[in-house]
Amino acid sequence: MSRYITTPIYYASGSPHLGHVYTTLVASCLKRYEQLRGVDVMLTSGTDEHGQKIERSAAAVGMAPSTFVAARSAEFRELWDSLSLPLDLFQRTTSEAHRDVAVDLWQRLAASGDIYKGHYEGLYCVECEQYFTAGDRCPVHRKPLETFSEESYFFRLSRYQSRLIEHLRQNPSFVIPDTRRNEVLALLEGNELRDLSISRTSTTWGIPVPGDDTHVMYVWVDALAAYLSALGSLDSPRFNDYWRDAVHCIGKDILTFHAVYWPAILWSAGLPVPQSNIVNGWLTVEGKKISKSDPTTVVDAGELARAVSCDGLQLYFLKTVTLGQDLDFRCDNLLDLVNSDLANTIGNLFSRFLGLVSKHTGANGSYPVASGPLSGQVVERVREFEQAMDQYLLTDAARCFIGIANLINRDIQQVEPWFMGEGDELAGYLASLYCALADLTVVGSVFVPDLMQRARALLGLSEVSLLADIGKSRLVRGLPAEAFEDVVLFPRVVLPHD
Ligand code: ME8
Ligand code: MG
Repeated sequence: MSRYITTPIYYASGSPHLGHVYTTLVASCLKRYEQLRGVDVMLTSGTDEHGQKIERSAAAVGMAPSTFVAARSAEFRELWDSLSLPLDLFQRTTSEAHRDVAVDLWQRLAASGDIYKGHYEGLYCVECEQYFTAGDRCPVHRKPLETFSEESYFFRLSRYQSRLIEHLRQNPSFVIPDTRRNEVLALLEGNELRDLSISRTSTTWGIPVPGDDTHVMYVWVDALAAYLSALGSLDSPRFNDYWRDAVHCIGKDILTFHAVYWPAILWSAGLPVPQSNIVNGWLTVEGKKISKSDPTTVVDAGELARAVSCDGLQLYFLKTVTLGQDLDFRCDNLLDLVNSDLANTIGNLFSRFLGLVSKHTGANGSYPVASGPLSGQVVERVREFEQAMDQYLLTDAARCFIGIANLINRDIQQVEPWFMGEGDELAGYLASLYCALADLTVVGSVFVPDLMQRARALLGLSEVSLLADIGKSRLVRGLPAEAFEDVVLFPRVVLPHD
């Protein structure tokens, strides 16, 4: 089994911000879950480096576009590295390998008879790199739309209208959550699709159209092709292995490109369409969408991650935001969750367990098989976690994880092992706690991978095991010596200016 997960190919017109981090964390979480299921998975991100928006951003700071995008792209890459996100591939649309695939894609569309030359006249938002049919301001950026009138190649999008409607009706998982799928369906059912202008003459910063270098490809066709080119050429083994099982994680701002234009382009090119688009809502700051074009909204993601750890950020987003809905970001809410779930619930649970074991004289001896009902209860919650993840109910899944920690804490409270005398009863109970904690780290690795790795090291476990191993851990020996060195698994976070 294989799976290909992507983040958007972010614009290299500015520095990464918390909005980009959010989608990338959703994608990382989905990858980690697939890995727990034993699926072979590839996660791709990248930067979108062509087009007028980029050309203007570079000009505004007096830089050549190529130097400008190299610096911006490096910033994205460095941020993902510093957050230790599990990216396998990173594609830049200015790379040669990418250009070859974009050209191949274009030629396939042309060979299907879906490209023709015409004249485009209409409204455009350079910030979105998107055409509009009505209105005088971009609904996202609230800036005036520009009027364009130029010769253009068109893609016969109109041809695919009924096939798109059929596809969306028959494949509920093509757009998740459902509210977003219904939005696309309403758009398709209520409007006649116009053919899509897919080339520009008003900029030269792009991939030349094959056979006509007075045009460059429309930057969205170029950018979408990066999902393909990241895997290799369209006939490479890696492409064939992964492309069939693609899942795009995106924000709601780019849904039409992914759920309408992209499948039509892929059908025209004779390529499989992705299985799902996982659509997140917007992070806002005081009600305004976090966006490069509005500096008052920009939150420094690197700094936040240094304060609360990437684990903290990831758990916060996944446990707080129902997929598809917006979240008004507040730092105090983030701190509250991190301190409550990670420092208190998880941190204290491990301290408690290690304290109990260190007082037990058998700490370095052997343990009998786990006893008591705890393991069964944990396994039940793990199944709930799986069901939630399988339906992309990420908040429910994250709550199951913390729920398991609470369950174990409550069990300790009820059993009161500190009143048990030394002997098999206590040893058996400690063994059952150990198994429950081991299972907790497996589930938790989806949300807080670094923290769970540290916890597993204390338990003397190294590799993250698979979901299939849940309920099977055994404490056979004592714990490693580090486990008894007054460790604080997750220190409380206090911001310097608090
Ligand atoms: O659209 N809240 O790139 P982009 C949540 N290059 N998510 C946000 C966000 C916010 N405030 N701001 C950005 C582009 N995002 C194109 C994509 S793909 C072939 C080409 C996330 O840099 C969200 O995923 O504008 C959104 O869709 C994406 O970043 C847009 O990034
Ligand atoms: Mg954008």
